[in-house]
Amino acid sequence: MADSQPPKDRWSSQAYSASASFVPQLTKTLLRYLDPQPTDRVLDVGCGDGKFTENFLPSVGFVLGVDSSPSMIESAKKDYSGPKTEFRVVDCRYLEQETSIVNGTWDKVVSNAALHWILRDASTRISTLRAIHTALKPGGAFVFEMGGHGNVAEITAAILGVLVHHGVPIEKARESVPWFFPSESWMREALENLGFQVEKLEIEYRPTKATTGPDGGIEGWIRLMGAQMLETLPENERDGAVKEACDILETILTRHEDGSKWLGYVRLRGVARKS
Ligand code: BEZ
Repeated sequence: MADSQPPKDRWSSQAYSASASFVPQLTKTLLRYLDPQPTDRVLDVGCGDGKFTENFLPSVGFVLGVDSSPSMIESAKKDYSGPKTEFRVVDCRYLEQETSIVNGTWDKVVSNAALHWILRDASTRISTLRAIHTALKPGGAFVFEMGGHGNVAEITAAILGVLVHHGVPIEKARESVPWFFPSESWMREALENLGFQVEKLEIEYRPTKATTGPDGGIEGWIRLMGAQMLETLPENERDGAVKEACDILETILTRHEDGSKWLGYVRLRGVARKS
């Protein structure tokens, strides 16, 4: 059992689709690196609502998807339950405590757009990566994509600025940033220290068009992804703060040719093998 409270569940599959439906879609390179095989048993770390899992599910033997959000796991079970799948609520900060999972039987561990949340807590960062190493069979591969250093920098800076403007001390504002976006060199060193052979590791600047539907756009993104930062403010100041952040970002994120808004995503992607 995890020795801390379960994290507050701020997720819903619907809100995630409204503001970030592109996340499970922009995964062509990651899927190529995963190279799914019919005999593969795959552990999907931070599987969310299973929409990324769906991309490779038909090509593998079995997938266990784990995620800390009960609502996302419920959604994954509803949409993708079957003989080849299992979905479980697991706080992956404490993955090493899940002895029925961390047992050296997995051909592949995959993770898309989740590790920057899971590795946020510096005190459990390395133990989570160690658990992934332990979970794999010898020769098994850890294939991941996450935010890399500089990811969504404009949005982070805008929200931090707004919080400080509303009187939140800068240290408290910084602590509320819910992500860890490592550089290539941090990740390489961490993986090699755990005994992984790093086969691929790359950073890609990939500006990504914001969604435009109801509850989406930059505003929807900030409300959902930046919820922990907004929670440093009294409830009655949050709507105003979101509007201020959107106003600050308007010039930076808007393209002149068509008025579309683009998020400054930076991807850190890699393949690391257990020898
Ligand atoms: C990302 O996929 O890079 C990301 C998603 C949500 C919040 C921050 C980063």
